[in-house]
Amino acid sequence: MPIIAPSLLAADFANLKDEVEAVARGGADWLHLDIMDGHFVPNLTIGPAVVAALRPHSQLVFDVHLMLSRPEEYILPFARAGADYISVHVEACTHLHRVLQQIREAGCRPAVALNPATPLSVLDHILGEVEMILLMTVNPGFGGQEFIPSMLPKIASLAAKLRESRRDILLEVDGGITPETAPAACQAGARVLVAGSAVFGSPDREAAIRELRQAGKLNKVRI
Ligand code: DX5
Ligand code: ZN
Repeated sequence: MPIIAPSLLAADFANLKDEVEAVARGGADWLHLDIMDGHFVPNLTIGPAVVAALRPHSQLVFDVHLMLSRPEEYILPFARAGADYISVHVEACTHLHRVLQQIREAGCRPAVALNPATPLSVLDHILGEVEMILLMTVNPGFGGQEFIPSMLPKIASLAAKLRESRRDILLEVDGGITPETAPAACQAGARVLVAGSAVFGSPDREAAIRELRQAGKLNKVRI
């Protein structure tokens, strides 16, 4: 059964507390928080103050996705704000191994995110340091983009690599995840589904979450 992580990026920013409570009531497992700096990606979103303000209102796992240049400078503020998982982009880290250790030392679960064009070989020497790999299935920066179909074999290769490693590492997919694309993503090996528009774009968040979870259980599908 996939873990469902609604992405706050598609929520009503004037009502964030209500939005978080709505997806929790609707059966979400995690809350995905997209942090953008206008440098690593061409968009700006929220900082640690907003994460800290939401933390007392939710028991959901806070999955913080840092789309920042120099993420090492922001690990502690987000850990203090209440992040559970912190993902950093491999493309933004000169000293990836060190940053992952910093995340663990700050008391959070370390994760690495890869852009669509980044090869899986970058993971070869850091698998022992992570609890999750986030594969971007769109180019990061904006919600509402279309899933890139050529990411399916990449998901499958990573799933095989993780099985071979015998490590307990989650495989998360992010971008363009809908009831139409979730079946193929899960069949390829995704275990955590991030979904912004597919959840917050629906008037019934509970139905949207249920539909995604069901879709993730389907087999033998093509997109
Ligand atoms: C994109 C973000 C995603 C985004 C997904 O850069 O990392 O988490 O919110 O949005 P949808 O589900 O609409 O593609
Ligand atoms: Zn994200």
